[in-house]
Amino acid sequence: MKELQEYSTFQLALRNGQDKPEIWIAYNGLIYDVTESRLWQRGQHYEHWAGQDLTAELKDAPHTQAVFERFKVIGVLVSK
Ligand code: HEM
Repeated sequence: MKELQEYSTFQLALRNGQDKPEIWIAYNGLIYDVTESRLWQRGQHYEHWAGQDLTAELKDAPHTQAVFERFKVIGVLVSK
């Protein structure tokens, strides 16, 4: 199995929908590319922002983690 690329919180933060064209969010250690989602345009999703680890915030959502199923995992989040 191919190892997933590692990204730091700093690299994730640049994919917040403002600084770079890609829009990424982290959930449970994995980074998802949500650039194509019309619900994450400019990195904003209701009162949540991309470019961060949103694991703890899923409890505020009206949906489960099943929303991630259609997105590609592009890497793992590492703290450096
Ligand atoms: C106030 C909190 C939130 C609200 C009101 C909200 C609302 C919604 C709604 C209405 C949808 C589309 C319908 C559905 O799939 O159920 C959706 C999709 C989604 N949400 Fe949330 N959400 C919230 C928080 C979050 C958080 C914290 C995350 C990340 C941990 C998240 C990640 C996603 C993703 C990845 C999708 C799929 C987008 C797509 O398919 O294009 N949401 N959300």
